[in-house]
Amino acid sequence: MFRAAPPSRADRLRSAASSITTTLTTPLLPEDFLGLVAPLWSSTSLRGRVLAVRPETDRATTLHIRPGRGWRRHRAGQYVRIGVDVDGVRHWRTYSLTSPEDPTADHFTITVQALADGVVSRHLTQATPVGTIVHLEPAEGDFVLPEPAPDQLLMITAGSGITPVMAMLRTLAARGPLPDVVLVHSAPSTEQTIFRTELTELFSRHPNARLILRRTGVDGRLDLRELDTLCPDWRDRTAFVCGPAGLLDAATERWADLPDQLHLERFTPPARSPGGSGGEICYGGTDTVAVDGDTSLLEAGEAAGVLMPSGCRMGICFGCVLPLRDGQVRDLRTGQVHGEPGDLIQTCISGASGDARLDLPTR
Ligand code: FES
Repeated sequence: MFRAAPPSRADRLRSAASSITTTLTTPLLPEDFLGLVAPLWSSTSLRGRVLAVRPETDRATTLHIRPGRGWRRHRAGQYVRIGVDVDGVRHWRTYSLTSPEDPTADHFTITVQALADGVVSRHLTQATPVGTIVHLEPAEGDFVLPEPAPDQLLMITAGSGITPVMAMLRTLAARGPLPDVVLVHSAPSTEQTIFRTELTELFSRHPNARLILRRTGVDGRLDLRELDTLCPDWRDRTAFVCGPAGLLDAATERWADLPDQLHLERFTPPARSPGGSGGEICYGGTDTVAVDGDTSLLEAGEAAGVLMPSGCRMGICFGCVLPLRDGQVRDLRTGQVHGEPGDLIQTCISGASGDARLDLPTR
């Protein structure tokens, strides 16, 4: 029979010190105090400190963040969920990491573009001083370059869709000469082109790489049929596309017979299927809200003042899931009505389809 070795003197001292500390700090745990004086050392919640804030355009800002204990290095193209407290309420959003893969780096970067109605994006770009502590979750996402990187790449981006691709380009450039890569990037104007100077310099240094910058305010939106002219061998290339839903839908259509060569990253919620019935939704057993058929359960809950967990708000990160207790919900993307008691529901892409009840996390 296995018998545990008796605790050593050092173990006994550690245990006694721990229980004295716990007694002294009760009802809080020592961890709670550690989180206050050294937030990056918390072992129960991953946090980061803003080291630098650098404007990119008049709407986009890069934040340099040093992550605390528990952070694992990201792969170029992945995203991170960031939690920030705005007016006493914690909001979670998802942003692509823009820094390259670097095993020696002590921080990472995200580049945030302020949206007109974006509570978090405006807070991060306009009201986040150096030293701010943010909450983090580990980097995720499979919009990453294969290893080894393909010899021929085509990257098509628009607006802040450049951000994950920038991390890829920086990673490739740090390894050596860029491969045969064509980047077609669209922005409303020259001034609103995020990373314009860096992109121009980067591509001018690498003769194998070609940069096509498009100002949609002057040149109009990119029509993917133009690829036959802009990049005649596009069918031979591994493609990475990131931008608004219309661009992604067009790419899916264009690569319909070559789906394995296409990698997509969605930055905006998918189109919603209209025509839900709506219903009375009970959040956590107390707050009941009348929700119309076209509004997500996340938006309806937040509008009613319910503290809702959230993240990307577009059906990717699963940061918004809540258990369904009664009723059914409608997938706003497909129109499909589904749900059994106990199912986890992505509230950002689910609408009401009759009355339903959701559990809220205990706080
Ligand atoms: S908030 Fe990311 S899936 Fe709903």
